[in-house]
Amino acid sequence: MTTLTCFLALATSFAVSSATTIAEINGPRFLSPLKDQTVSNVSAIITARGPDGLWIRSIYPDRDERTSESLYVYGSKFGANLTVGDSIVIGGKILEYRSSKDYIYLTELSSPVLSKKVSSGNKVQPLVIGKDTRDPPNEQYSSLDGGDVFAVPNNVSQISVANPELQPKKYGLDFWESLSGELVTVKKPVALTKPNSYGDTWVAGSNWKVSGRNDRDGLTITDKDANPEAIIIGTPLDGTKNPTNTRMGDSVEEITGIVTYAFGYYRILPSTAIKVTKSQKPALPNPTKLESGGKCDGITVGAYNVENLAATSSHHGAIAEHIVKYMKSPDIIFMQEIQDDNGATNDAVVSANLTLSTLTAAISAAGGPNYTFADIDPVDDQDGGQPGGNIRVAYLYKPSLIRLYKPNPGGSLDANEVLDGPTLKYNPGRIDPTNEAWTASRKPLVAQWEVINKKSDSKKVDTFFTVNVHFGSKGGSSSIMGDARPPVNGGVADRLAQAQLTANFVKNILSKDKDAKVITAGDFNEFTFVEPLEQYVKISGLKDLDAVASIDKLERYTYLFDMNAQELDHMFVSNAVAKDGSPKYEHIHINTWPEYAAQVSDHDPSVARLDLCV
Ligand SMILES: *[C@@H]1O[C@H](CO)[C@@H](O)[C@H](O)[C@H]1NC(C)=O
Ligand SMILES: *[C@@H]1O[C@H](CO)[C@@H](O)[C@H](O)[C@H]1NC(C)=O
Ligand SMILES: *[C@@H]1O[C@H](CO)[C@@H](O)[C@H](O)[C@H]1NC(C)=O
Ligand SMILES: *[C@@H]1O[C@H](CO)[C@@H](O)[C@H](O)[C@H]1NC(C)=O
Ligand SMILES: *[C@@H]1O[C@H](CO)[C@@H](O)[C@H](O)[C@H]1NC(C)=O
Repeated sequence: MTTLTCFLALATSFAVSSATTIAEINGPRFLSPLKDQTVSNVSAIITARGPDGLWIRSIYPDRDERTSESLYVYGSKFGANLTVGDSIVIGGKILEYRSSKDYIYLTELSSPVLSKKVSSGNKVQPLVIGKDTRDPPNEQYSSLDGGDVFAVPNNVSQISVANPELQPKKYGLDFWESLSGELVTVKKPVALTKPNSYGDTWVAGSNWKVSGRNDRDGLTITDKDANPEAIIIGTPLDGTKNPTNTRMGDSVEEITGIVTYAFGYYRILPSTAIKVTKSQKPALPNPTKLESGGKCDGITVGAYNVENLAATSSHHGAIAEHIVKYMKSPDIIFMQEIQDDNGATNDAVVSANLTLSTLTAAISAAGGPNYTFADIDPVDDQDGGQPGGNIRVAYLYKPSLIRLYKPNPGGSLDANEVLDGPTLKYNPGRIDPTNEAWTASRKPLVAQWEVINKKSDSKKVDTFFTVNVHFGSKGGSSSIMGDARPPVNGGVADRLAQAQLTANFVKNILSKDKDAKVITAGDFNEFTFVEPLEQYVKISGLKDLDAVASIDKLERYTYLFDMNAQELDHMFVSNAVAKDGSPKYEHIHINTWPEYAAQVSDHDPSVARLDLCV
């Protein structure tokens, strides 16, 4: 409290020494300086009511933007005869509450005691975010992240321990903490991703300065910018329910509610359910413009994680439609998450022949080509994913155009090697399958291919190499708005080891022929600006096809998580591929755009068109 406001507070209330203000309770850091102490004589106006308590705003604000002027009063039985607009004097015990040790604490006044009701019918005016407050910071989350929320090592410090002084200008967590308990309005909100099953919906206000806004009006993660300006709209205070069919880019009616923290995230609890007023058009993306040229200089390459596709899955028809209509039947497709022939039934079945032939039949039936497939069965239960499903990566390819070069399939445990030529010891074969880096994870599938239909004047055998990957998942991550800073990026050590093994294999190919055509693609479960993939390109010498094809950084996404559109699926190509022809690449947002119930997989597919003539 400044001397001036202290003086004003005294002058206005004629209070003596023992009055406490809400600003004093919240203090300029995450944790209350009055934690576990009993306070009295807190003068405030009731701004909102929830099922388990109510929120109050100080009538003696200070001028420190770090100290929130509002507070949660916890106690479902408290103040049954009090209402919004009542001016009250209360006391109670200041607690820091969190429901999990991985979350940030919420400051609250518990065991409330009403000293008196002073008046009622006072006007309660929400603070308009971006007008009455500054705009939320839009790049960094916390001073404890060292400038990079995805920096390794993770969890170097915790908010609950370091309790840093708030810097609401610079850091998103600090900004939202400085408004904890406050009644706010979000003008012209735009939905950023899909809601979770409770209808919790990420939004940003149209009047805020945001970074990362993509063409669909979602926010895309970029290097050192993971969009802390976004906020979840959580459970409405009046018992209504938010819709669960909201889509990225939907316009939402103005929202007024209370800023709080729960379940690992700062959030706004709206006074009533949000309403979508307008959706983006067209509802679905256009099909790719990248079509096969039918010869080595115009080969189309697809990649698609089809999310636990089993033989009996109801999704074969929809995936076939995506492949034929939207991906325009690429010449070769890197598939991920193909389950075994009886899917999640947990028995000794590991073959995926039925799953893959069901898919290729559906593609033919949808008017597509007759694809052939190539995969290697994993050892039962050793490659992670849904129990019993034995997911693996697989290739679909057009046998009229390409074929495995001198095929010699390896077994589940055969480690592939690069022989002089270069050729492969096993074609196809898995990379170092017994290495502990692959524990409970998919092993990459390497293959060498020959283009049958070559340029008319060519006498060469046009071969190219592919590595189809599905690195370990981010399971076990902590919340991006959680206590651990930088947050725990689940599985990052596994992905680093996997990236190093895969990159070294590619390096072996390129050390035997620096002009070899190599394409690695699939679900890397990581962003290009995080250590595993930084190491991957450094060791392998491969180039990120998004960069080669000059895809706008904000349009590089294949997946939605939290508030962010993000890219987990990538293609990396060797120099010879990057420099020949003019490589083209597209991400087809066929799953990130539709509502949750209409998506077929949690990933978008991608298509490239490459010159693979040697
Ligand atoms: C609360 O403040 C009033 C003046 O506003 C003062 O008279 C009273 O003693 C205080 N009560 C307590 C319990 O501190
Ligand atoms: C609210 O009701 C309680 C009893 O239920 C009573 O003791 C208290 O005086 C009432 N407060 C006001 C402000 O009317
Ligand atoms: C972060 O580290 C602290 C201190 O070692 C530990 O208590 C906490 O559980 C860790 N958090 C996560 C999410 O792993
Ligand atoms: C799957 O197909 C491959 C080759 O097409 C064949 O070698 C293998 O025996 C088949 N597996 C089963 C279980 O039918
Ligand atoms: C696929 O194979 C079937 C059966 O052999 C054949 O009738 C059909 O023409 C083929 N389709 C294409 C696109 O080649």
